[in-house]
Amino acid sequence: MQQVETIDELREARRQLTGRVGLVATMGALHAGHLSLVEQARAENDAVLATIFINPTQFGPGEDFDSYPRDLQGDLEKFRQADVDLVFMPARALMYPPGYQSYITVEEVTQRLEGERRPGHFRGVATIVAKLFNLACPDVAYFGQKDAQQVAVIRRMAADLNFPLEIVVCPTLRELDGLAMSSRNVYLNDHERAAAACLFRALRAAGDQYEQGRRDPAVLQETLLDILSSEALVEIEYAEVVDPRTFQPLQALYDNPLLLVLAVRIGRTRLIDNALLPWSLNARDGLTATLGEISANSL
Ligand code: PAF
Repeated sequence: MQQVETIDELREARRQLTGRVGLVATMGALHAGHLSLVEQARAENDAVLATIFINPTQFGPGEDFDSYPRDLQGDLEKFRQADVDLVFMPARALMYPPGYQSYITVEEVTQRLEGERRPGHFRGVATIVAKLFNLACPDVAYFGQKDAQQVAVIRRMAADLNFPLEIVVCPTLRELDGLAMSSRNVYLNDHERAAAACLFRALRAAGDQYEQGRRDPAVLQETLLDILSSEALVEIEYAEVVDPRTFQPLQALYDNPLLLVLAVRIGRTRLIDNALLPWSLNARDGLTATLGEISANSL
């Protein structure tokens, strides 16, 4: 595995990669969810390029940029074991040198939910991902369904700015009690960790209702809120039933796939999760298919 830190080194190493190249962009603190993206990229490409960069522009004031978990040596070892070909790990000053002033704003799909709670977050994500796409020139880039709105933003940005690549969405990996894997789970103490399982319980219960034919978004939302509010440690930010193309709330019965989206705070930790309904869409390629139809329709 080759490790590079400068843009010249990256461009040279990228030139040496032949065939189809898959990109897995990360902020490090790797867990099994990241490694599942690498595994899929490995299986579907001739070469895998991974990046490690804790992107300061996607953290708002008072967010956890300074305390974000860092384990560079551990991350490199995990990438090595997962058979990554090339790792790009730039310094902050390389990606945002003094005088830097160019940012990408994706408009409608960033207005609500994460975009509303974390002003500037998606501007930072769209900007760094566009820079990584320009530098790494991947044929395909892999992202996790756990950040479903981020995927919609990246897909929109890539289509609008004519990046010649495919975006693949990989299913959320979960702990045994259903908690979605996240680098931020390490912030949870034992009590908070136990309470955090309620996110998946809420998604599962609303999903079961849907499968039993209760398709009214208001009923599904009520179920999400009931389960989340039964945990004293959980402070709900949002629990909604949205159109997975637009992230707008659904009010009426709806025949197309729905997305349940949750964000809560437990102590100092902010957690998000989501599930597509019908539940079977959460299997491999569910969100890719759902958002793929959409981008094809809206291009
Ligand atoms: O999902 C993440 O880890 C980050 O938002 C990403 C896509 C690597 C951009 O910094």
